[in-house]
Order: sequence, then C-alpha cells, then structure tokens
Amino acid sequence: MLCKLLLQLTLASNNDPGGEHRNAESLKGVLLHMSSISALRRHAPAPSREVRDLRKTGLDPNFWYPLARSKDLRPGKALGVSYAGEPIVLVRPEKGELFALEDRCAHRQVPLHLGVVRGERVQCHYHCWTYDRTGSCVNVPYLDDDKQLPNGVRSYPSREAYGLIFVYPGDQAAPGFGAFPDVSTFAKGEYKTRTLDRTIGCHYSFMHENLMDMNHQFLHRSLMGSIRATLLDVRSGDGWVEVDYTFSRAAGKQPLGERFMINRKHQPDPAKGQIDKMTIRTGYPYQTLQFWTAGSSEPALDLWNCYVPTDREQRKNQTYGLMMIRKPGIPGVIHLLWPFIVAFTNGIFGQDQHIVEAEQKAFDEQGEDQNQEIFPAIQALRALLIEKGIPLELGQRVAAPVKLADLPRA
Ligand code: FES
Ligand SMILES: [Fe+2]
Repeated sequence: MLCKLLLQLTLASNNDPGGEHRNAESLKGVLLHMSSISALRRHAPAPSREVRDLRKTGLDPNFWYPLARSKDLRPGKALGVSYAGEPIVLVRPEKGELFALEDRCAHRQVPLHLGVVRGERVQCHYHCWTYDRTGSCVNVPYLDDDKQLPNGVRSYPSREAYGLIFVYPGDQAAPGFGAFPDVSTFAKGEYKTRTLDRTIGCHYSFMHENLMDMNHQFLHRSLMGSIRATLLDVRSGDGWVEVDYTFSRAAGKQPLGERFMINRKHQPDPAKGQIDKMTIRTGYPYQTLQFWTAGSSEPALDLWNCYVPTDREQRKNQTYGLMMIRKPGIPGVIHLLWPFIVAFTNGIFGQDQHIVEAEQKAFDEQGEDQNQEIFPAIQALRALLIEKGIPLELGQRVAAPVKLADLPRA
C-alpha cells in the first residue's frame, strides 16, 4: 500500500511541476509515516506487557470536562450530574454565573439537586441546610445563633463554553486547570454545529479506539457501502496521538447524508496530490476529527468529542460532541440539508454505540482486557490512555468511626 502511494506521489511530481512543494510535503508525510510506524512498532508495548489493564484505567480528573448542555439548566434551577461516580450539582441562579457543588448535603447526604435555588444559594430539600456558591453551609434554620455552622460541601470550578457546562473535578494545582479546550471552529459563521449528548454503556477507551481506528468501515457497510480506509501517517508526542487517512469507495452508492455533509467541490486527483484527508487526534483526554475534501483548505467536518465517565467503575460514559459542518456557499441551504445529515450521522453513531457496548459486555464477561491489537496507531493510543490515566479505586469510602465521647453536648 505504501509503495503504491509512493509511486503515485513520484509520478505526480513528474507531471505537475507546480506541485513539487506539495508533493515533497506529502512524500515527507509518507516517509514520516513509515518511520513512525516502525518507531511505534519498536516502542508500543505489546498488549500482554501493558502495565495496567486499559479498561480498568480511570480518566485523569485534572482536566475540564463537559457535564451538561447549557440549555438543560434553566435560571433558578439545579441539575444533578456525575463525574466518575462523584455526584455534582450544577446550580444556575436567576442572576449571575452558575456554580457547581458536591451533590450531597453535608447533613444526611440527600442530593442537593432536589433542593431549592434561592438567589445565589441552594437549600437542601430535607431540613433546609443552605449552601452558597463556595459550598459553605451558610444557614441551618433550626440552629441557635450562638452555635457554629457545620462544615459545608466541596465546590468545583465551573465554566460555560460552546453551549456546554464544563466542570473541573481535579486538583487545581495541576497543569490541566489552565488548559481549557479550544474549539475555535465553533464560533465561525461558515460552520453549523450539531451538539451530541449520549449515554453510552462503555469505558471511555472504547470510544477513543472506535473513532481513531478507521479500519472499522465494514461495520457501516449497510449505510455507506464498501469504504476502504488507507492509513497515511501516524504521529505521536507527549499527551497526544494523531492519525491521517484517506478513503475510497469500492462498492455501493454514497448516501445523501454523507454527500450533503462533506459538500464536495472537487473529485480527488491523486496524480495532482489532491486527495481527501481525515486527521483524527486524541489530545488527552479529548478527541478531534477533521475531514478535508480534495483541494480544499478548510475542513468540511470538524468534530470535537469528550467521553466523560459517569459511574465509579467507569463502565459508562456521557459522550459530548460538537460536530461542526461547513455550510454550502448558498445562504440557508444548510437548513434544508440538515435533516439528511442528522439522519445519516444518527445511523452511524447508532452502529458505533451498538458495537462499543458489545465490546464492554465482552470485557465484563472475561474480566480482563484480552485484546490482540495489531494496528500501530491503536497500540500508540492504548499506551497513551494507560500512561495518562489513573488507577481505578473501586473500594468503598468508609467514614472514620465516631466515638460517643467526642460528640458535642447540647
Ligand atoms: S439532609 Fe440536607 S438538610 Fe438534612
Ligand atoms: Fe464508526
């Protein structure tokens, strides 16, 4: 495959003097690809030698994670969400910025999202212990004025962007606190965004693998016909792995949704070095995908994804995605095409969800990761997710025993 591509690029540089620089770059990419593949083969750990079971590896909490869509939290309301089994309540006062607290009343651990939002405070539904935006308990209605208020609950940094509510569940001294995800295409008028918000029954690692391993086009044969993915390049560095592909359709017809989504201007012409290109990157802990049609400098599709574990064992995730699709030149046409694009992408996501949940089920039955991974890009991805992840602590938290003699006297 690589030899064929090299031959095509050599022929192209002979036939197209103006494309010398471009082809030199492409050739460099292919050579880089060859060296990165061999480097990855040398350095990527074999599955049996991985230090930790990937599916038992927790996501690093020292990053900003989307936990809800902005539209799902109205002013004066509270919303219960979760990060890796940690219950979190998002509170949007009638006026002012939203805030995020541990979703457990300090009194008897009743979820605070059941309570009442009053001004910039939330009152627990049960005995009305009241918390401010820092999590301090600021009122217990039946406590005498001369008595000290009890300890409050944990607060979390929170921020809204791209129509999502982000929370930082980790240590604020870690570098991830200052690294808010940059999704600059979201604000560009030439793109229309579809926001994805799905509950998926699998460990986040299956999601990263699914998107990055484009060798799974067979799964989508009923919707897309026969698509062949060709690997062009694999790159990696500290905290990231990136893969380039191009595609060809061996059989079947292009579905309308796909056609409207990529909105092609030119047919690929490998002899001129003009090929479709897809780049998929896991920049821990996020994942992006960009797709350029041949001859276009702007991506037709720019996708940003984050797979947030919701349960303590991290066998489920809430997938948030921002799928930004470049609009056709004629104003308003995107709205006519949108239902086709939505139906097509729903079909693809549905097939992907079905298969990653099947993978999780197989893992649960076997009790350990027995994958035999042969694709260097995914070997590199697995190594990255293990290296950057944290061990899962599956034990229950046990409160320290309280001695009667230590209790305050009324
Ligand atoms: S449980 Fe919240 S006030 Fe009692
Ligand atoms: Fe897929």
